[in-house]
Amino acid sequence: MSALIELSGITKTLKGQEQKRTILHGVNLSVDAGESLAIVGRSGSGKSTLLSILGLFDRPDQGSYLLDGQEIGKLAERRAAKLRSSHFGFVFQRFFLLKHLSAAQNVAMALVNGQGWLPRRERRRRVISALDQVGIAHLAKNRPAKMSGGEQQRVAIARALVREPRILLADEPTGALDTETGTSVIETLLGATTRGCALILVTHDRDHAARMGRIHDLTDGVLTQRVRA
Ligand SMILES: Nc1ncnc2c1ncn2[C@@H]1O[C@H](COP(=O)(O)OP(=O)(O)OP(=O)(O)O)[C@@H](O)[C@H]1O
Ligand SMILES: [Mg+2]
Repeated sequence: MSALIELSGITKTLKGQEQKRTILHGVNLSVDAGESLAIVGRSGSGKSTLLSILGLFDRPDQGSYLLDGQEIGKLAERRAAKLRSSHFGFVFQRFFLLKHLSAAQNVAMALVNGQGWLPRRERRRRVISALDQVGIAHLAKNRPAKMSGGEQQRVAIARALVREPRILLADEPTGALDTETGTSVIETLLGATTRGCALILVTHDRDHAARMGRIHDLTDGVLTQRVRA
């Protein structure tokens, strides 16, 4: 059976003002359903670029990107957008919540944008279930301004989970949180893997990286898997 995600020889070159710069050099990565992995590396090493390619916001210059064994590295934007909303959930350092909407309404937005039509009752069931999964169902009616940073990030995670993605891509999701709150947000993200979602976490925090099933280092555009002691 093929892996959920299989990257082989992914290369990405950016055209700067004067010269081209290769950010990713032949990246190989295989991810199965329910796996968790961390991508670490110094600032500017290309972690966010790699996540953008994984999440189909960007395309590789070379290499192959298989999702369920199907090549998706060269998709046109229309099809990429469809796959993005059906297969991927995204969590960032900033929460990007709409401040005039409640937690539940923020989560429901993810079902309005890009998802096929769902009956109202099913939408509500999914929103409540997503808020419940991240432990904040009791805050459903609150607006972001009344919530802590950790609670706001949980709303953002619920918004990512409500489409029932197969892959969760998280780029420094704890960057704006204190250590303790960050750790509990990481546990929340890991919770999704128990339901078969794959989790790919970019982080600068060693402890958070250590909670993932494996750690990959991105150095000079080359991705390597760290061998655990
Ligand atoms: N749109 C762009 N145009 C030109 N250069 C870019 C662009 N986006 C990123 N870069 C460059 O590509 C390199 C990799 O950037 P990227 O954002 O992927 O790094 P990162 O590992 O996520 O860094 P950080 O840890 O600071 O978030 C950097 O040198 C950056 O300056
Ligand atoms: Mg980054």
